[in-house]
Amino acid sequence: MTRGLKKGLTNYGDAGFSLFLRKAFIKAMGYSDDALERPIVGITDTYSDYNPCHGNVPALIEAVKRGVMLAGGMPMAFPTISIHESFAHPTSMYLRNLMSMDTEEMIRAQPMDAVVVIGGCDKTLPAQIMAAISADIPTIVVPVGPMVVGHHKGEVLGACTDCRRLWSQHRAGEIDADEIETVNGRLAPSVGTCMVMGTASTMACITEALGLSLPMSATIPAVHAERVRSAEASGKRAAELAVSGGPRPSALISEASLRNAQIVLQAIGGSSNGIIHLTAMAGRAGLAIDLEAFDRLSRDVPVLVDLKPSGDHYMEHFHHAGGVPRLMAELADLLDLDAPTVAGGSLRDVVARAEFVPGQDMIRPRSSPIKPQGAMAFLTGNLAPRGAIIKHSAASPHLLQHTGRAVVFETLEDLALRIDTDDLDVAPNDVLVLRNAGPKGAPGMPEAGYLPIPKKLGRQGVKDMVRISDARMSGTAFGTIVLHITPESAVGGPLALVRNGDLIRLDVENRRIDLLVEDAVLETRRRALTAAVPGPERGYAKLFHEHVLQADEGCDFDFLAVPKGGELS
Ligand code: FES
Repeated sequence: MTRGLKKGLTNYGDAGFSLFLRKAFIKAMGYSDDALERPIVGITDTYSDYNPCHGNVPALIEAVKRGVMLAGGMPMAFPTISIHESFAHPTSMYLRNLMSMDTEEMIRAQPMDAVVVIGGCDKTLPAQIMAAISADIPTIVVPVGPMVVGHHKGEVLGACTDCRRLWSQHRAGEIDADEIETVNGRLAPSVGTCMVMGTASTMACITEALGLSLPMSATIPAVHAERVRSAEASGKRAAELAVSGGPRPSALISEASLRNAQIVLQAIGGSSNGIIHLTAMAGRAGLAIDLEAFDRLSRDVPVLVDLKPSGDHYMEHFHHAGGVPRLMAELADLLDLDAPTVAGGSLRDVVARAEFVPGQDMIRPRSSPIKPQGAMAFLTGNLAPRGAIIKHSAASPHLLQHTGRAVVFETLEDLALRIDTDDLDVAPNDVLVLRNAGPKGAPGMPEAGYLPIPKKLGRQGVKDMVRISDARMSGTAFGTIVLHITPESAVGGPLALVRNGDLIRLDVENRRIDLLVEDAVLETRRRALTAAVPGPERGYAKLFHEHVLQADEGCDFDFLAVPKGGELS
């Protein structure tokens, strides 16, 4: 097999000349022949002035390079797209597939025998892993790591569960403008990803469970020296993989490893985004996530990690308690421990080396869980024929069985316009409905499922209501929120048929979400639906609109997913 600099030559019709030219150019960087004959480890550079979560990437790249060279390899960093949650218009999910395509094609286009992908902010790890599965060269994932916690008035705080909680208090008039500004400077006290169990932490934990990163790499704080050493170790291992040729992602992503990831997702109280991303990853490997089976896991796997928003603590506490290996030790009888990992060996070796920290109660035993069931439930019903997700570990228990009157918002713009008006006809027991916020409708399925509590109810002390939509929700959010209703309303899903005042029944025990309106009435409404507005006419927006799949298929592009049982090419 062709290795190193000879790999993937630019096509001039003369391979000898292509290599001659390539070497001539790269020597302009001052590399010696010795360096250029080594196995090459590519390293993705996702540093950006717009991405504070990736603020430590330059230091991590240096550490990975050091590790590669210590093991006799040649490191070569290259840029890819970087996406930060708060700097991605209209929403980061809209760009995930673009990042995935960019990363995959740069891995394919440039000569490298292994690759280290460094990422972390919400959509970046999923994009990079989807790319790595498709490109299928040996890959190690290096998460950037979570921020350390902040403090305010003696309280420990963090992005962004506390951002939402304190902003709600400000909206309700409990925190004044000066104090909310002070808090604003304390919620994200260092570089790194959100330090609650949001999507970034969720994906880093899932990555470890899939065996794609080194043990403990999900939880080491971004600014700790240990994070840098882990990056160095990842570089060393990547250089070994560049020589041995494996294991490649295709050897690590399997029915077993995907099931292991789902178990960990349930046990950490993970983000609802995790199941969409995992579905997209599975799709790249010609596999599928069975959402009914995922739901059955939720009944067997309790939430064991005491982290916000399901619990009380933060990622650095999870790390000091033993991290993902210690959690997996608690779940050992449910996991397939024979699943191989990129570190060499299997998950069994990782679990065997888990640290048991005396007195810690961050990672609970199964006999004393944080929540008796897992993070998420999969719902179906006449409102969601292909399903919906609720993160019931972060919901209000008294709302999990609830029937209420629908208060409908047509779009995100309509929501912004009317939610805080005094004449909005809304009561605490109503169900807030948002539509046209799905993969095609918004577009990009924004994290708008956490509809704000109407101001006039907030002032009355209402903290939670049942809210339903075809949108997603940040993993950092808390509330009784039904998400990912599929098919979405913009493609004619039943959410498009709901009218103000209709009764909606949420029955989490029986995994149902239903619109209590007669079928004949719904049929009449369906016939009256106006034709969908035409999609965008050019560019990535057109590509996205025409090819994005629904939430139950991972929102990947139809031409990137591999048919179930199909081969990677
Ligand atoms: Fe980057 Fe939360 S904003 S992980």
